[in-house]
Amino acid sequence: MYPRVIIDPKKYAYNVNYLVQKAQEKNITVMAVSKVYGADKELINILNQSEVDFIADSRIRNLKKIKTTKPKVLLRIPQISEVDDVVKFSDISLNSEIETIKKLNEAAQKINVIHKVILMFDLGDLREGIYYADFNTEIITEISSLKKIELIGIGTNLTCYGGVIPSLETYQKLADIKEKIEKELNQKLKIISGGNSSSISMLLKGELPSFINNLRLGESLIVGRETAYQKQIDNLYDEVIVLEAKIIELKTKPSYPEGEIGFDAFGRKQKYQDIGKIKRAILAVGKQDVDHNDLIAPPGVQIIGSSSDHLIVQLEEDLYQLDDIITFKLKYGGVLSLMNSEHVEKIYV
Ligand SMILES: Cc1ncc(COP(=O)(O)O)c(C=O)c1O
Repeated sequence: MYPRVIIDPKKYAYNVNYLVQKAQEKNITVMAVSKVYGADKELINILNQSEVDFIADSRIRNLKKIKTTKPKVLLRIPQISEVDDVVKFSDISLNSEIETIKKLNEAAQKINVIHKVILMFDLGDLREGIYYADFNTEIITEISSLKKIELIGIGTNLTCYGGVIPSLETYQKLADIKEKIEKELNQKLKIISGGNSSSISMLLKGELPSFINNLRLGESLIVGRETAYQKQIDNLYDEVIVLEAKIIELKTKPSYPEGEIGFDAFGRKQKYQDIGKIKRAILAVGKQDVDHNDLIAPPGVQIIGSSSDHLIVQLEEDLYQLDDIITFKLKYGGVLSLMNSEHVEKIYV
């Protein structure tokens, strides 16, 4: 069945082992993020066979189905309504709200487990976390009083909303918070989670401050890309997962629409360029499966646009026939939507 994705677990294993080794050289543990591929069983098996330290996902539904002996981490700040599932299906969760942590404590009490918490700090990227400048140790005292919660560490998330690139200056804010908390607790925190694939550049250059001992990695493992500068990481595969789609129409047509031009199928005004008649193919894949901006076309193929079920491309003459398959490499967003779509078949090599 098409469209389908071709998944190469061996290439994923290679990327995972490469970056885990680089992290280990700096005494950094790795949380491998599985949400981007919907916690696919075969890829989780690769993580199980690797030296990755934790498996992390933003969705409880995924954590529930993951079979592993490694600790499971809930990446997204929990919803209060899901605390019972959080303590049941994850060992560790990232948190920023004391009210939620208290509810996690109650939920953990019900099933008599200790739930581990990483307290998140916002260093200026303005996504999740206690804003660093507003931090005081009151929340630490409150967490310490909770019998079924263990504060195992602190973390931060960068280059997500605000696009803030990790730097020594930014990390100093986390170092100050770490010191304050350790002084208050009179003990060392076990985990200082310094960020995501945007910290890879500092890791590989040996520039990450030594107090950081954990990274949470998704994109770099699955598409071999660091996200601070959007650069491909040397030696890593960018085609762990590719898309195959079939040509259902192949015609030469004008490049500029005829008639009064209003909106497209998504209510948007598009700009069209008149470059005369072009060889145009329609493929049986659309926005319902993937945003066409997240596809990387092979040579001779140029993506023009898409609607919910159709992808339109311009082709070099005689490159493809009707019913041929075109294979696309994927950006992160492409992996995310295709792997989480039930309309797309998953094939393993
Ligand atoms: C809290 C958190 N940490 C880490 C990650 C992984 O980010 P990346 O895919 O850039 O490595 C994500 C996103 O998946 C996240 O939400």
